Amino acid sequence: MGGSRTLSGRFGWLTTLAGMALCAWGAADAAGPDAAASRGAASGGIDLLQYDWSHLDGATPSVAGVRIDGLGWGIVPPADEPDEPVIDNPPINLRGPALQVTGDFAVSARVRLPAGASAYLTLYGRPPLIQDEWRQEGEAVTLALSKDRLRVELQDGIGRSRHHEYPVAVGEKARVTLSRVGRQLVVDVDGRTVARVDDPGLFDSGRVLFGAHGDVGEDFWLTGLSAQPLTASADVSVDDSPLPRVSPPADSLRALAARNVPHLAIGTAVAAIPLVSDPNYARVLARQYSMVTPENAMKFQFVHPRPDRYAFAEADAIVDFAERNHMAVHGHTLAWGEALPRWLTRGDYSDGQIREILAGHIATVVGRYKGRVASWDVINEPLEPFGPDLRRDSPWYRAMGADYIAFALRAAHRADPDAKLYINEFACESRNAKSDALYRLARSLLARGVPLDGIGFQLHEDMTDDYDPVTAAAFRDNVQRFIDLGLAVRISEMDVNLHDDDSPERLRAQADYYRSMLELARDIPAFTAFSTWGFTDRYSSLQEWWDADGLGNGLIFDPELQPKPAYRALQAALAR
Ligand code: XIL
Repeated sequence: MGGSRTLSGRFGWLTTLAGMALCAWGAADAAGPDAAASRGAASGGIDLLQYDWSHLDGATPSVAGVRIDGLGWGIVPPADEPDEPVIDNPPINLRGPALQVTGDFAVSARVRLPAGASAYLTLYGRPPLIQDEWRQEGEAVTLALSKDRLRVELQDGIGRSRHHEYPVAVGEKARVTLSRVGRQLVVDVDGRTVARVDDPGLFDSGRVLFGAHGDVGEDFWLTGLSAQPLTASADVSVDDSPLPRVSPPADSLRALAARNVPHLAIGTAVAAIPLVSDPNYARVLARQYSMVTPENAMKFQFVHPRPDRYAFAEADAIVDFAERNHMAVHGHTLAWGEALPRWLTRGDYSDGQIREILAGHIATVVGRYKGRVASWDVINEPLEPFGPDLRRDSPWYRAMGADYIAFALRAAHRADPDAKLYINEFACESRNAKSDALYRLARSLLARGVPLDGIGFQLHEDMTDDYDPVTAAAFRDNVQRFIDLGLAVRISEMDVNLHDDDSPERLRAQADYYRSMLELARDIPAFTAFSTWGFTDRYSSLQEWWDADGLGNGLIFDPELQPKPAYRALQAALAR
């Protein structure tokens, strides 16, 4: 019956209403889809607001419902495409109710709309893949309701989105119901069917996640949200399982490292959406790794979308998951020239105001995770891509010159004196003009008493017919001078892009290469972490963003989350 709990096939418990469906909707089939939809709208169903809405950015739950603010969350296009618009990136309630659905079902929302405001409610059958320069849509429908208009937006995969608009006339309080009836989606507003569109199979995954947002600077109230099955054979249940806790097996990377190489954390970059929507991802992560780096979730544009607003839901999910699974968290990143929101890069701020913005940002973000995030990439990529000069194209450099580096490190140290503070850079593994400059920078900071604990070497590499990656021997020869300054060092973002050729021979070469770098970190105690930039080719920054099937091939688990030769090679290096 409603409210009873059965064990779900995924991790966690389900609250199921299948029994209730039998009692309440036994006659709906015979009455036809129209009647089913409108009866669904009128029913009580499962109350979805009783679940967690406190982890949705922009949402403030209270007894009156959930107030939804518009945060203007967006993904800023890369610096070399300054005229491209910001990509909308509305928040998803990753910790709230996830529906499991089979057959016809309805979701019904009650909203309170202040004059002029719009309410946006999104149901995701498959959430998007989000990077910090692009977003690949999954499957979703967004209902956007204003006083006189309903807009229905369908996302049925990359490049295939469409929308429809319908006139409506609603008062301050309105009720919107979305029903899946056979292969159609039906939208009722205040009990009247307004829209009927073909369903491209948006919820064939059997799972529905929710998102809600408003326009920037506006808000609305979600005063009710419920879900119910519409026929006797349909089933709707809620999976509100907490973030899972998983035990690492003795031959996992993290267990082997803990036993044999205790100075070395085994780390990876992670993203919050797969963490909560793909149980295999969460399981492999917690079994194999002892450290996580939020890939994008702590970058400026994600955590600080408006001058006076922060958005921590994704970062919190990652930190909470890490703690549940006894993993350390490496924070990424505080002062970087990229992933900056337009309010900052296009705002009219004085140099003094930019200093204050950076100081406030660091105090807030580091302060929030004090004692929970063990180390930070305070400074990311301070140097020009392939030269000895500091990058000048960030607001931080423009306002403060080279001093922004010491300024940010000091601010981070004030916010959490126990956190280990790093500069993180790429193309500095071997001796070259850039690594020489990084060395001089680190040495001068230390000489001035600036709190700097270590250097992250990203180790984003490629392996093709025409290109051999930097060798472990060259890295060893270069890294020692940094260690001699008393600094810790870490491999922070390793991946090995094979591009077009991932033949068995190439996968073996990739494995040997991974192994050579892990052996280096294993044999030098100053290395604190061996961390890759993701672990599965399914969710990889090496993916072609325009091609949903163009997965990467640079990581150690394949797109099915199966170990590649590189995984076995790392295991062997840790087992000794
Ligand atoms: C990358 C992310 O992995 C992508 O999702 C994003 O689109 C671009 O940024 N060096 C860094 C990381 O320090 O922050 C970058 O992450 C990869 C290069």
